Amino acid sequence: MTKIAFLTDQHISLTQDNPFLIDTKGNFLALWNHVKNQNFDAVFFGGDFCYEKGDKEVYQWFFDHLATAPFPCYLIPGNHDDSVLMSSVFKGYHVDNDYEMYYKKVIHDIPFIFLDTSKGHMGESQWLWLTKELEKTNDTRMYIVMHHPPVLAGSTHMDSLYAFKETDRFIKLARAHKDKLITVFSGHYHLDRMVTFENISLFITPSSYINIDPDAPGFAILKTQKTGYREMVWKDGLFYTNVVSVL
Ligand SMILES: [Fe+2]
Repeated sequence: MTKIAFLTDQHISLTQDNPFLIDTKGNFLALWNHVKNQNFDAVFFGGDFCYEKGDKEVYQWFFDHLATAPFPCYLIPGNHDDSVLMSSVFKGYHVDNDYEMYYKKVIHDIPFIFLDTSKGHMGESQWLWLTKELEKTNDTRMYIVMHHPPVLAGSTHMDSLYAFKETDRFIKLARAHKDKLITVFSGHYHLDRMVTFENISLFITPSSYINIDPDAPGFAILKTQKTGYREMVWKDGLFYTNVVSVL
């Protein structure tokens, strides 16, 4: 059995209050303390660690907490992060010539691709690397971790203003690999939602800050979903996942 948690969109500031007066540090710590006691094999972080923009002190705050974990943690940046600052605090991470931080990890024989969409799109080097990773594997399962959902997800506010800028390119790449089921774990939309599109299965995990009403014509807080983290389990050929609400 392989059991992994996914936490995302903490939006923490150490110096300023957010407009909704959410205890972002407290929310994260509630989830984190729960996750630390659940025997996970690894924990993924989906980006947007920082409130508005990348902050070295926020990354150091996370680094200090993550250093207490009994499992390995794997991180990607969001659009409210700075990949260069992140890679300077979290040891073992590197950026390429486009200042993007992407990599692959195999956990219990399950391959995971971690992408950097912090600019809302990906550089040519990252696209080339992703294309090669898809081409060179015979595995029919591909698991991708990225901040932005790679396809639209039915949120009026997010789809119209903050969607991934290269959805068509991602879909074209997925179509070139029809033999594979591409499972994507993302954050960014501040919503608990599952989306399928052709051979793409997308699981969006809610934020530990606020969640966004997908049906409102503009920005509105979604009060009917709780914050939480996603647990993902691979067992005896099955994969199952759900959001765990702790708060
Ligand atoms: Fe976010």
